[in-house]
Amino acid sequence: MATLEQLDKNRIPQHVAIIMDGNGRWAKARGLDRSAGHKAGVEALHKVLEAAVKAGVKYLTVYTFSTENWNRPKEEVDALMNLIAWGIDKEKEELIRQNVRLAIVGDISRMPDFARNKTLECMKAASHCTGSTLAIAFNYGSRFELTNAMQRIAQQVKEGKLQPEEISEQTVQENLMTADMPDPELLIRTGGEQRISNYLLWQIAYSELYFCDTYWPDFGADELYDAILDYQGRERRFGKTSEQVKTPSQYPLS
Ligand code: IPE
Ligand code: IPE
Ligand code: MG
Repeated sequence: MATLEQLDKNRIPQHVAIIMDGNGRWAKARGLDRSAGHKAGVEALHKVLEAAVKAGVKYLTVYTFSTENWNRPKEEVDALMNLIAWGIDKEKEELIRQNVRLAIVGDISRMPDFARNKTLECMKAASHCTGSTLAIAFNYGSRFELTNAMQRIAQQVKEGKLQPEEISEQTVQENLMTADMPDPELLIRTGGEQRISNYLLWQIAYSELYFCDTYWPDFGADELYDAILDYQGRERRFGKTSEQVKTPSQYPLS
């Protein structure tokens, strides 16, 4: 198990994205209701956020509810809405104490009123915070995000504000729901599945992927630091050769 002291402080990922998976199986293994797993998941996020802030992570983007999760049984969806509202409200003071601002990635118009109000209240209360950003991906799906981005870009073209040949990668990036964030250097998925489940498809083009079997409610500071330590051991080449990355001065044109 890695500790904070083992990490290279100069190579902490700025942005860590997490697919918090395994709440249901964690609960089932204990003979509990799935919603008990989600509640334990809220507690895990509390610990992981604190550990991330301590390490100097600037953006933590967590997948809390996907566009596909609406297809779960109504009682589970209702329990999740209650827990999201409860969790955000409960963490409000803590976010401010840690100088963390709250952002939402996704469409919260479909959130029940009580939960949306708690979310907006918390965003407002922590809006002055400048240390790190906790971005909650709620009713989020990458295909939904990219479809929306295309509609917005098409509208700008239609209005004559943009020429088709002017559309660049930056134009796409600026029209995503994560427009004001850097791309994640590290994507973690807990719970044993090795898939992306419609999460940040554009943004993770060059992210390091880290999959672990630990169910999300059992994931804590040590597990986060394990993931960061693993990330720090990787060579990020961005299409170049290993030699170019190791000795950039020998390749002045690269
Ligand atoms: C992740 O845990 C939380 C949400 C998707 C909301 P799951 O509920 O998917 O847990 P498993 O994968 O069924 O164990
Ligand atoms: C992804 O987990 C979504 C969240 C963690 C919120 P799922 O459990 O919904 O993903 P699949 O269905 O197993 O791919
Ligand atoms: Mg799951």
